[in-house]
Amino acid sequence: MSSTELAQDPLPARFMRKARRLIGPTGLFLKGFVKHPVMVGAVVPSSARTIRRVLSRVDWDNCQVFVEYGPGVGTFCRPVLDRLRRDGKLIVIDTNPDFIAYLKRTIVDHRFSAVHGSAADVEAIVAAHGFEHADYVLSGLPFTTLPPGVGPAIMAATRRVLRPGGAFLVYQYTARARALMSRYFPRIDKGFEPINIPPCVISWGYKD
Ligand SMILES: C[S@@+](CC[C@H](N)C(=O)[O-])C[C@H]1O[C@@H](n2cnc3c(N)ncnc32)[C@H](O)[C@@H]1O
Repeated sequence: MSSTELAQDPLPARFMRKARRLIGPTGLFLKGFVKHPVMVGAVVPSSARTIRRVLSRVDWDNCQVFVEYGPGVGTFCRPVLDRLRRDGKLIVIDTNPDFIAYLKRTIVDHRFSAVHGSAADVEAIVAAHGFEHADYVLSGLPFTTLPPGVGPAIMAATRRVLRPGGAFLVYQYTARARALMSRYFPRIDKGFEPINIPPCVISWGYKD
């Protein structure tokens, strides 16, 4: 920005830009929690160890379409893009428009698509991107606090959208959602990551 432009830039706009930079993604996430505590369900984003552990079961050579529910400020997006094939696609879906606007602004990658909507509509969203199935679906949704009926609808839609052999990767702060998950994914591998706020329960559900 030139000195002439700086001189023309109104002080409040400059202040807001500086404040946004200082607050950063963690601040935006916290703001999202304060606005919608039930929908966000966590105060800080997932830890690097959680990310590594959750993604460790993905067969990246055989993953073309990767879907993420509830990306928040994109904690998993970069690690997924780092591992994803050059011809792969990462579709993320979040109900919070502030998070989606932030992701669109900050992640520029032709393989990335951020959609404002509900995970319950995953089949239509995947189809709108030109695909029949997803290879993997990742979820950070707070299943135990979602409005009644939403959790089962998302589980059923996820099972339908996954290809046979695909998997649903779920991280949660309690093991309670596993009972719901096991109705749709009878084969679940279980994990736990203590280095996370709060410690995290991981479930990998397979569509055989
Ligand atoms: C625990 S936060 C996500 C944390 C983030 N993925 C991370 O690793 O730090 C849950 C997210 O789910 C989103 N969410 C809640 N209900 C949803 C739904 N039905 N469909 C899609 N996203 C939803 C919230 O807006 C929020 O961004």
